[in-house]
Amino acid sequence: MEVTKLIVLPAVLALFVLFLHFIKRIIKLRKLNLPKGTLGFPFVGESFEFLKANLEGKQIRFIQERMKKYDSKVFKTSLFGENIAVFCGPAGNKFLFSNENKNVQVWWPSSVKKLLRLSLVNKVGDEAKVTRRLLMSFLNPETLRNYLPNMDRIAQHHINTHWKGKEQVVVYPIIQLYTFELACCLFLSMEDPIDVSNLSSYFEEFLKGIIGFSINFPGTRFHKAMKAADEIRKEIKMIMKKRKVDLDEKKASPTQDLLSHLLATPDTSGRFLNEVEIIDNILLLLFAGHDTSRSVLSLVMKYLGNLPQVYEQVLKEQLEISQGKEAGELLQWEDIQKMKYSWNVASEVLRLSPPVGGAFRDAIKDFTYADYNIPSGWKLHWNTHTTHMDPTLFSNPEKFDASRFEGEGPTPYSYVPFGGGPRMCLGQEFARLEILVFMHNIVKRFKWDLVNPDEKFKYDPMLEPENGLPIQLQPSQYTW
Ligand code: HEM
Repeated sequence: MEVTKLIVLPAVLALFVLFLHFIKRIIKLRKLNLPKGTLGFPFVGESFEFLKANLEGKQIRFIQERMKKYDSKVFKTSLFGENIAVFCGPAGNKFLFSNENKNVQVWWPSSVKKLLRLSLVNKVGDEAKVTRRLLMSFLNPETLRNYLPNMDRIAQHHINTHWKGKEQVVVYPIIQLYTFELACCLFLSMEDPIDVSNLSSYFEEFLKGIIGFSINFPGTRFHKAMKAADEIRKEIKMIMKKRKVDLDEKKASPTQDLLSHLLATPDTSGRFLNEVEIIDNILLLLFAGHDTSRSVLSLVMKYLGNLPQVYEQVLKEQLEISQGKEAGELLQWEDIQKMKYSWNVASEVLRLSPPVGGAFRDAIKDFTYADYNIPSGWKLHWNTHTTHMDPTLFSNPEKFDASRFEGEGPTPYSYVPFGGGPRMCLGQEFARLEILVFMHNIVKRFKWDLVNPDEKFKYDPMLEPENGLPIQLQPSQYTW
């Protein structure tokens, strides 16, 4: 009896305190002028509607319906157990991008936090600044230009191995081999196809569990992703162990790849990242660095397949570049600068179909935005679609028109596939190079027709084609 009392009484008390806390919070929220919208059922909120719209490739629908219903560019919702205010339009983007460390800080759902542990995405404030600078010293254009010929070599080898001689290919899984091979080579000097393919299969599991409920129970997507992350970490750790010895014995170069760079370079405070930080950051960059580009390149293949005039213009630009080079000479930095039209095409693809739908911030204090109160602890979401598909910012937003990016291009804070501000994507230049190198090689070698020109793309969590995007290939007459 006494024992029961000892257990039950504290439990009842704890529940009572929790209940009081809940009531206090509701009273506080009621007094505030919160953005319009609904928080839905406790914990699940509107998560299922959000996930359903994503799976149908209609993330925009979830946002637009609510913007219309509440007649506002900011509305509230609840996703994955969090109260969220969605900030729409250039003003919302500008506010969130320019208030980092003032009113807001970067925030990711707990599935991302748990999977990416000590990496940059879980750092805020000065710590994030220092880590970003260190990673950027590898990902900036000055460093990456040295790796460009290697990127070209990998693209050519990939096309010779997986595309040449085929009448039909399924684009999405094949392009993953290119973007993943490239990331493995530049980050870890890993080139053995079997090693690359083994690691790649873990990333498939990892990706499927990264956005969603972080329920670590056998059979859930998140559980599989955690297991896959452990395997990836083991592999990186093994490579790192050997690399340390090779660096000591001068058998490896401190500039040969990202791993060597992180082992040999201190951050701006003079500190070297510890082993776990190096592993987690490489895991982050391997993940962020190949799935996004794979999605964009699959979409580039879709749009070029459906728009013969655009394909012809890209081909013309790329042939002019090849004609100015010796046979067999690899792409150089100057060649990339000439690929203006091709990059406008890729940019238009990124506008119409951004692989990352947006990102989150955490309100680190109470503040007001557009006359609404945003309580500290709420999460804020900016979404690429709210500006990319706004007819007042992009006329005929549904139409593919690469010329939008000529001259001054879109107005500030309206074109945001890579985000903005101090937490903007670190891999923008890396992505630009790998996309352009691939476009250069593929248009010179092939023309193609989509098996299903209307094949849909859905977010899961990255934009991916429903059936992998099969295409019919016709080899081109140009032989470089
Ligand atoms: C076309 C391809 C890509 C797109 C569309 C893209 C998009 C994005 C977006 C929207 C964010 C969130 C920004 C924010 O919170 O404001 C982000 C963050 C990030 N991206 Fe990318 N990304 C791409 C490729 C890459 C590549 C190739 C890498 C690495 C090599 C990379 C590394 C990162 C990292 C490390 C972050 C987190 C930055 C931070 O928290 O400070 N991304 N990316």
